[in-house]
Amino acid sequence: MELPKPKYTGTVSLEDAIIQRRSIRRFSDEIVSIEDLSQILWAAQGLTKGRQRTAPSAGGLYPIELFVATHDGVFRYVPDGHRIEEIIKKEVRAKLSAAALNQGFIKDAPVVLVITAVFERVTSKYGERGERYVHQESGHVAQNVCLACAALGLGTLVVGAFHDLEVQKVLGISERFEPLYIMPIGRKG
Ligand SMILES: Cc1cc2nc3c(=O)[nH]c(=O)nc-3n(C[C@H](O)[C@H](O)[C@H](O)COP(=O)(O)O)c2cc1C
Repeated sequence: MELPKPKYTGTVSLEDAIIQRRSIRRFSDEIVSIEDLSQILWAAQGLTKGRQRTAPSAGGLYPIELFVATHDGVFRYVPDGHRIEEIIKKEVRAKLSAAALNQGFIKDAPVVLVITAVFERVTSKYGERGERYVHQESGHVAQNVCLACAALGLGTLVVGAFHDLEVQKVLGISERFEPLYIMPIGRKG
């Protein structure tokens, strides 16, 4: 499914977004619009110029893959064409919450973004050091998401405490996609 075109101008300054960014752990029931979801995914990994993306990537090898869980199911973000593809048609947020040491706010968020990486895309070129590069890259992506959410008046946070295998099982993704961050997203409750 094609996402709405992202907006390239906003009303919140970068400085304001940086000041507003805070870890939010209470979410209202209000849905996140498809326009806002589009904006967040674009900020995370959207294409800007040719194959180049919004976040830096060591050697331009782009190991990051994004998955989104909503009440409709699980979707994978495809930067080329700015689309999402359905992976499973099932509500999994409660199970994601359980996989993340029962951090309950994950199931309360209307959108749960999971940042994963395919490490071999980078380690095949850079060896062991490539592992460091992938972790560094996930930080860039997560920060873009934090700032995009702040600019949209949405709350989020980065969650690093979870069982990798459980998260992969719940999302229905292969072991190649190693989860690095879970980011619940929604209106502040
Ligand atoms: C690597 C990393 C892992 C984190 N994991 C969790 C987590 O599992 N659960 C959680 O509630 N917050 C988690 N956080 C969020 C921090 O608790 C939060 O950033 C910190 O308290 C500072 O608050 P602030 O983000 O509002 O500035 C994590 C942050 C980082 C950088």
